[in-house]
Parts: sequence; C-alpha cells; structure tokens
Amino acid sequence: MNLIVAVDKNWGIGKGNKLLVSIPSDMKFFRETTSGKVVVMGRKTLESFPNGLPLKNRTNIVLTKRADYQVKDAIVLHSVEEVLEELKKYESDDIYIIGGESVYRQFLPYCSTAHVTKINHAYEADAYFPDLDAMGEWEITADSEEQTYFDLEYVFLKYERVVRG
Ligand SMILES: NC(=O)c1ccc[n+]([C@@H]2O[C@H](COP(=O)([O-])OP(=O)(O)OC[C@H]3O[C@@H](n4cnc5c(N)ncnc54)[C@H](OP(=O)(O)O)[C@@H]3O)[C@@H](O)[C@H]2O)c1
Repeated sequence: MNLIVAVDKNWGIGKGNKLLVSIPSDMKFFRETTSGKVVVMGRKTLESFPNGLPLKNRTNIVLTKRADYQVKDAIVLHSVEEVLEELKKYESDDIYIIGGESVYRQFLPYCSTAHVTKINHAYEADAYFPDLDAMGEWEITADSEEQTYFDLEYVFLKYERVVRG
C-alpha cells in the first residue's frame, strides 16, 4: 500500500481544511500517480476538494463515522477494518492513502511506500504528517532534482519501509 502527501519543512500538511500551498507540478504528479488507482481519504479531505466531489478516473474510498453519509461515485466506509476488508479486492500497489492527517496516521502502519513532496518552507499549519525521518523504519530510496515554483523549492522523495534481517 502507498501513501502520497505534500509536506512543508515541519511536516505540516494543511490549515483550516485546506492545503498549505498548491504547486501545479505537484498536483500533476499527484494526478498522474493516482490515476486509475484506488484512493482512500477522510471525509474532511473529500470536502476540501472542488465542490466536495470525488476524484475522477479513480476508485474513491471515503471514511466517515456518519451512518447516513452518501457520495455519488465513491465508496463510503465507516472504520479502518471495513476499509482494509474492501482493499483486499485490489492490488496493494494500486492503493494510495491520500489523507488527511487522521487517515494518514491510521493507515501508515499498513503502507510500505510513501511518496512525499517536501517543500522547503515553514507554513502556519494545523494538520501534520508524522516525521518519517525521525521514525527509523523509513528510508529515502529515490529523490528528484530540486524543483522550483516561483521562490519555493521542493523535492519529490520516495520513502520505503526498511526491511530488516
Ligand atoms: N498536504 C497533503 O498532501 C494533504 C493531503 C490530504 C489532506 N490534507 C490536509 O489535511 C487536513 C485534513 O486532515 P484531517 O485529519 O482534519 O481530516 P481527514 O483525515 O481528511 O478526515 C477526517 C474525518 O475522516 C473520518 N474518519 C477518520 N478516521 C475514521 C475512522 N477510523 N472511522 C470512521 N471515520 C473516520 C471522520 O469523518 P466524520 O467526521 O464524518 O466521522 C473524520 O472526521 C486538511 O487541511 C487537508 O487540506 C493535506
């Protein structure tokens, strides 16, 4: 299982249920990486999308505790266990956890690959991703050249869970 996230210097990912910044080439990377795949998200992340609509060309799975919550063109599930059961239908490599904070934290233990866009700037944030560099069980296995968007610098990093023994 994969996850994909854009983080700032402090592993901040959002503020006020919005992204910290929107970088066109990062959006393109997200779109290209997840197209045709299964994306798993929390109800708040779904509602942060334009018009609160699921992502096109992807199988959308949305988590909520609300029993009566329905979304056209999305599978709505109510617990981590229910999601893991549903995900058995798909190839693990085709599954992407796409946030937000609560969903990343709950599914990180099931992920073996993390696609992290690391932005070299400290924003004010109220949502964070766990610091993979401090966790020991993750290592960077691929990185891009430094990218720029106006005066912002960022890199595309691939982290993989360290296999010991
Ligand atoms: N930088 C990035 O790459 C990135 C990506 C995605 C999101 N974000 C940011 O992350 C922030 C949102 O994160 P968040 O943690 O507040 O919200 P979230 O994870 O998107 O959604 C939280 C909601 O998901 C549902 N949920 C979560 N775990 C559940 C479980 N085990 N069982 C049932 N329902 C569950 C609950 O919905 P109910 O309240 O309906 O029960 C919960 O309130 C925003 O700022 C967003 O922009 C950033």
